[in-house]
This record gives sequence, C-alpha cells and structure tokens, in this order.
Amino acid sequence: MKGIILAGGSGTRLYPITRAISKQITPIYDKPMIYYPLSTLMLAGIREVLIISTERDLSSFKELLGGGEHLGMMLSYAVQDAPNGLAEAFIIADREKFLSSGESCGMVLGDNLFYGHGLTGRLKNASSIEKGALIFGYYVQNPQSYGVVEFDEKGKAISLEEKPETPKSHFAIPGLYFYDGTVIDKAKSLKPSKRGELEITDLNRLYLEEDTLIVEDMGRGMAWLDTGTHDDLLDAANFVRTIQHRQGIMIASIEEIAFRNKWICKEQLAENIKDLKKTRYGQYLMDLIK
Ligand code: G1P
Repeated sequence: MKGIILAGGSGTRLYPITRAISKQITPIYDKPMIYYPLSTLMLAGIREVLIISTERDLSSFKELLGGGEHLGMMLSYAVQDAPNGLAEAFIIADREKFLSSGESCGMVLGDNLFYGHGLTGRLKNASSIEKGALIFGYYVQNPQSYGVVEFDEKGKAISLEEKPETPKSHFAIPGLYFYDGTVIDKAKSLKPSKRGELEITDLNRLYLEEDTLIVEDMGRGMAWLDTGTHDDLLDAANFVRTIQHRQGIMIASIEEIAFRNKWICKEQLAENIKDLKKTRYGQYLMDLIK
C-alpha cells in the first residue's frame, strides 16, 4: 500500500509561528511535527509516501526529508494550491501519477499524532485491507470539532457527519484513513461542501453507503493528539517528553523505525547519524547499533 501525508492548511491558529515556518515543521518537543504522522505510516509498513502541501511549505519538507533514501523509503512531493479539502489529496495523487485507480492507499494528516500499545498491529492490519475503507473512532470531549461517527448497539457505524452542531456521539474520526483501489474514482465523484471543500467525511460516507466501511474504535488506551493551537502544541510536546523521559524510548524516531523495519542496515543508520554524535537524538540511535 502507498501512503499520503496531507500537510496542508495555513495553520493560521499558530500565527505568528506559521508566518515564519510551516506548521508541520514546528517542533513537538524534540522533533519536527511531520515526523509523527510519517512514523505512523512507517509503522503501517508503508514505504512509498507522497507529501502534499503548499508550495512554500514543500521546500522545507524536501530539505528535511529529501527523497527518503536514507530511510529506505521513496518520498515524493505535490502541491495543493488551495484548501480544497482533504479528499482532494487523492485527485492530486492521481494527477501526479503517484497513485493509479486500483491501488490502495493510506492517508494521515500532517498534524495528527498517534501513540499507544498495540498501535503497530492495528496499523499493519489496516494497511492490508483489499476492499472498502478502514477508519477509526476516538472518544473525545468535543466531537463537534471533528468528523463524527455514530455506532449502532452492535458497534457498526451507521452515520457520519462533519463537524455537526449537535453530534450524535462522542466518537471523533481521527485523521488516519485507509482506502481500497476505488478511492480515486470516489474522490472524483464528490461535490464541494457548503464550505467549498471536498470533504473526507463525504468520501467515507460513499463507503458507508456501499456497506464497505469499517470504523474501528481506537479504544481509550490510545493517544490521539492534534496540534491546531499553541496550547495543543505544548500539550503534545509535554506528552512526548513525559513518555520519553520515563521510558528512555523515543516516540516517532523515523530512523529507528526504518532500522527496526529492516528498511536500512546498520551502516546506513551509522551514516545518517555520523554528524549527530553530540546530540541526544544521535546518541539514542547510536545505542541501537552498538
Ligand atoms: C479534518 C476532517 C475531520 C477530522 C479531522 C481530524 O478536520 O475534516 O473529519 O475529524 O481532520 O484531525 P480539520 O482538521 O480539517 O478541521
């Protein structure tokens, strides 16, 4: 399966930081934000990734991650000119010849962070779907800020709504989606919503109507954080710092994941960190190959 990171949006709520740099380059504790969604795709086993963003922001992603060879990955880049909605990502991926009709694809939003025990297994399972779509539900206090899924008493999804004023449940839909090979055709069939966007919720509803949508409850033991505001940023940073300090294990170290996935060998990892020996990040990675 191929993957997309949609790192769009102007990040206006993070002004004036986003006046200077891309939202997804801002640090979450000790790493640029984009490391977290990238690590989510990597844990799903996805090696070929298209990063979609504005022209301005793409240059910083390219500088940071390049073609991905150092991670044993293939990274490419495409521009989304205007905030036309999340579902437009699949039309862009088709236009850029990254994805063809018939190919399945996972997508993660550039400002979503996932962490928890058993996450890798769930991601591997999700990325192996052949028919339909798999998305998640996550219990939150403020569902009206998100896409919302309603379940029946058997736990089957029965309705999806984008940012409803009166949500039918507390289950938000996180920015992590897995689709089969019909996703491009479905995205092309969408009409813009009232706010003028091709809504991911409308795309998901096409799968629901076809009865091929699986919505898995992430469970309360999983952390899903998004990073829209300055407070969210600080909360996410504190979360990462707390876990990393307690365990001495890093969250979203993309070099570590590439190495553990056997996408790069010891020598490549050593090469990646040769100039980082004096940093904590470099020392952590060096300990993996000692
Ligand atoms: C988008 C989606 C929404 C989803 C959310 C997750 O909202 O439209 O369905 O729940 O991402 O982060 P946005 O962040 O664009 O407001």
